[in-house]
Amino acid sequence: MQSAEAIENSIQINEAFTKQSLHYDTNDFQNPLLSAMRMQVYQHVSKFIRRPSRILELNAGTGIDALYFIQQGHTVHATDLSDGMIRQISKKVNDCPNRLTVQQLSYDQLDQLKGQKFDFIFSNFGGLNCIHELSKITKDLRSILNPGGYVTWVIMPPICFWEIVSILKGNRNAFRRLNKNGVVAHLEGRHFRIWYHSFLSIKKSFGPNFKLIHHEGLAALLPPPHVFNFPIRHPWLYKTLQRIDAAVRNHFPFNRWADHIIISFQLVS
Ligand SMILES: C[S@@+](CC[C@H](N)C(=O)[O-])C[C@H]1O[C@@H](n2cnc3c(N)ncnc32)[C@H](O)[C@@H]1O
Repeated sequence: MQSAEAIENSIQINEAFTKQSLHYDTNDFQNPLLSAMRMQVYQHVSKFIRRPSRILELNAGTGIDALYFIQQGHTVHATDLSDGMIRQISKKVNDCPNRLTVQQLSYDQLDQLKGQKFDFIFSNFGGLNCIHELSKITKDLRSILNPGGYVTWVIMPPICFWEIVSILKGNRNAFRRLNKNGVVAHLEGRHFRIWYHSFLSIKKSFGPNFKLIHHEGLAALLPPPHVFNFPIRHPWLYKTLQRIDAAVRNHFPFNRWADHIIISFQLVS
């Protein structure tokens, strides 16, 4: 049973992302920071994903990553909560005959997929920050993953250097991510609560049946996507930060403290 507060949060999330779905692809493709971040996620995944894999995508949005995986020779079952996101991704199904299926499904209802098996379960760009208890998702992963299957999640953690440094510019919300009760996000005129998940809490939620494969910072030192004009305004500094970020993002603390972290597990028992 969901509390009234959780139901209201889901309604606000659905409405916010439904409104955002109308311009999501345009904004995404025009943002060079987001494109670079997606490339880093794809490089991370390419180290272990086998072709062809049957992929379950959680909070798939408009299907930008689903289409990428399909181009790489995989098949994708794309799920999302939002009416608008589901409408957008459904428009792409005909372009991918027999490779893309779509289902409106909240990721805390994965028990509805019992009987199906996937090789890889993927979630990108903070969709999982819309839930407080990750265990409501991880409890069902084992029953829908093939033996040796992988999971990659891209999640916002509580510490992001870029936000902390923004104190110098007078940002009074620089430590907002550390609030244990979550933070109210404002999107498209809607308000809903989100939660930031630490590396350790994510790892704990997976339990002993999963082995941690790799984790790295995403925009550990590079600017987060909302500072999208940074590469144009400061090209030299951006290039320098790119080099330093690439050198440190696989090492502590930058593999835990970043705008997002990319974290992968393998089902071992
Ligand atoms: C920032 S968007 C990311 C979309 C996509 N993964 C991408 O990389 O473009 C977050 C997505 O999470 C979805 N979402 C939020 N809560 C969800 C839930 N409980 N179950 C499934 N999807 C959810 C939203 O509808 C939205 O599409």
